[in-house]
Amino acid sequence: METQSRIVALTSRRNRQFGLTARQLNLVIEVLFITLIATGLLSWILSLNLAWIATTVHSIAGFALFATVPLKVRGPVRTGFRRRRTSRWLSAIFGVMVLAVLVIGVLHANAIWWGYGYWTGMWTHLLVGFSSIPLFLWHVASRPAKSARPKRVDVDRRSLLTTSALLAAGAGAWGTQELAQKVVGAEAGNRAGTGSHEIASFDPDNMPRMIWINDKRPKIDFATWDLRIEGRSVALDDLTAMSTPLAAWLDCTDGWRSQQNWDVVPLADLLSGASARSIMVTSATGYRRLFSRSDADGVYLCVGYDGKPLHGGHGAPVRIVAPNRRGPWWIKWVTEVELSDRPVWMQLPLPGPTLT
Ligand code: HEM
Repeated sequence: METQSRIVALTSRRNRQFGLTARQLNLVIEVLFITLIATGLLSWILSLNLAWIATTVHSIAGFALFATVPLKVRGPVRTGFRRRRTSRWLSAIFGVMVLAVLVIGVLHANAIWWGYGYWTGMWTHLLVGFSSIPLFLWHVASRPAKSARPKRVDVDRRSLLTTSALLAAGAGAWGTQELAQKVVGAEAGNRAGTGSHEIASFDPDNMPRMIWINDKRPKIDFATWDLRIEGRSVALDDLTAMSTPLAAWLDCTDGWRSQQNWDVVPLADLLSGASARSIMVTSATGYRRLFSRSDADGVYLCVGYDGKPLHGGHGAPVRIVAPNRRGPWWIKWVTEVELSDRPVWMQLPLPGPTLT
């Protein structure tokens, strides 16, 4: 019995990668994967003055995950392939998907691969990232032996030190990338804290015309267009007469941002009820978002840019300009602005199915 436990101890010591047992290494990788999905989503959901924190953590976790690849291949992957279970191929597909997401993320961050036309690099990154979630859950749940599942004892001093070293390596790699971009002064350095690259600033004709994943561009008849604010019709000419220019960045979740001189009217100038909790803005497509009533000064109805009307693909005749929020809050083709007693947290963090 004593000999057997000594053999187990010796084997697990021999199999250690960078001081981590296979179980500890798997645990570190799982935590990094969950962090990446969570911070990727948070970089969309949070307001712009906070989103950069999520993106920075995302990038550091991404590089730290890169650093675990050789350890995973030399350790658990090699052992797993020796066992010759049929499901090893599904695990291999999952591994390839995560590697692809990592590589595409870095290619996009460094402006090396943008994608083809409307099929963008960032979209591919997200699509493969989200598609890998079911495989991740299966991969974790399908561990053959109970002994392979994470245990409390796995979180020891050594594993914490090694994880810190991996995170420090991730931070170092990310910092070097950011510094190199600034020094080289290439297009890659022209990024927001959210990682978005600048496109077509002060050139609205060339600004991309993106819509939210499940939304669609409506056919607008300007003759019958009716914008209702707190139930009353507001004429487009009146809104245009009230508008003043505002330079603001549109930071799209597809990995680009663009600054324009928008012609805007603050929602605060159009709304009366001060006691309401929130403002519900609805598009002709049924797409809608709630804004906090106290944000009405910093959210605008927009009728054009540089004194010219908006393009149809940019939300003509009226869209929202929300300078502190990511693209999903910049609602296009606005038909209705209403006060509401619903608190802003009572909505999906990102737009769900459109309600018509
Ligand atoms: C398996 C999951 C994922 C992995 C392994 C991963 C990894 C990476 C890596 C390595 C980068 C490049 C960082 C850099 O070079 O600075 C990156 C960038 C990025 N990822 Fe992910 N990611 C994943 C999922 C997601 C998801 C689900 C989202 C959003 C919902 C997302 C949003 C972003 C954004 C916005 C960037 C650009 C950041 C920048 O340019 O600095 N990622 N990701």
